[in-house]
Amino acid sequence: MTSPIDDLHTVRDYLRFASSQFSASRVFFGHGTDNVWDEAVQLVMRSLHLPLENNTLFLDARLTRGERELVLERIRRRIEERVPMAYLLGEAWFMGMPFHVDERVLVPRSPIGELIENGFQPWLGDKPVGRVLDLCTGSGCIGIGVASVFEEAHVDLSDISQDALAVAASNIELHELSDRVRTIQSDVFASISGKYDIIVSNPPYVDAEDLADMPEEFHHEPALGLAAGNDGLDIAHRIIAGAAEHLTPGGLLVVEVGNSWVALDEAYPDLPFTWLEFSNGGDGVFAIAEQDLRQWCSNS
Ligand SMILES: C[S@@+](CC[C@H](N)C(=O)[O-])C[C@H]1O[C@@H](n2cnc3c(N)ncnc32)[C@H](O)[C@@H]1O
Repeated sequence: MTSPIDDLHTVRDYLRFASSQFSASRVFFGHGTDNVWDEAVQLVMRSLHLPLENNTLFLDARLTRGERELVLERIRRRIEERVPMAYLLGEAWFMGMPFHVDERVLVPRSPIGELIENGFQPWLGDKPVGRVLDLCTGSGCIGIGVASVFEEAHVDLSDISQDALAVAASNIELHELSDRVRTIQSDVFASISGKYDIIVSNPPYVDAEDLADMPEEFHHEPALGLAAGNDGLDIAHRIIAGAAEHLTPGGLLVVEVGNSWVALDEAYPDLPFTWLEFSNGGDGVFAIAEQDLRQWCSNS
């Protein structure tokens, strides 16, 4: 393809060009947007450091040559290399907040964000929240989201991957939360001590069959963040086995297991999981109270 760089001048030109190119290609949407237009707007506007809303003022502004090269290169990589847009931009949005992301962490997209915005209600009730653990934190989006809603809470972000924790640490700094949010390297609960009022986790949960079928965009994400054995439940089993020991009385465990929820529900016929529903889409997230987990542990 000859470069269209001398034919495209304005922000409007680039939005139109990106939309046409994405429509004509086989890019997969599943990392924060779900359609061509939103993908084009986000890629073009954020590459130019322009706001995503109230930006009509800029539509007929011309790009510099350097900006044109940058935007065209990102459109090319999005289509030819199928790189998720968040990695091209180095940023993703979760609960309306920006997060640094790169290929060391999954692109934030958990429906748990909606639950956090609702203060974990009605599942948490009036239990005070002093300590929260975000297990398998990746970029830290879930734990940092919790810290933004529970303004007094101390939040631990834990992950087995030192690379992921480096990204989480940069997000703690971005949101100026280092006085009450910290990172801990841990293989599930192995290096976790003390008890928490809420343990929340979006662990790896993709089963072997789904992993093989995933669109190319997902292969840019760290395999450690996706794969969890044949039935996708390797990490979820370990979280369920260890959570009661790390929850305060009346505490709450919330875990996302996506499509693997059917297998999980079948594996624990005696555990009273509540499978949550979300207004903004998403499923496969359960909540369970500390007392239910503890009772199940003592019976089994
Ligand atoms: C699905 S990603 C979730 C990231 C983040 N919570 C989110 O919602 O975007 C799962 C994370 O679990 C981490 N992980 C994988 N195995 C782990 C283990 N055994 N112990 C702790 N963390 C683990 C991965 O490094 C990855 O960052």
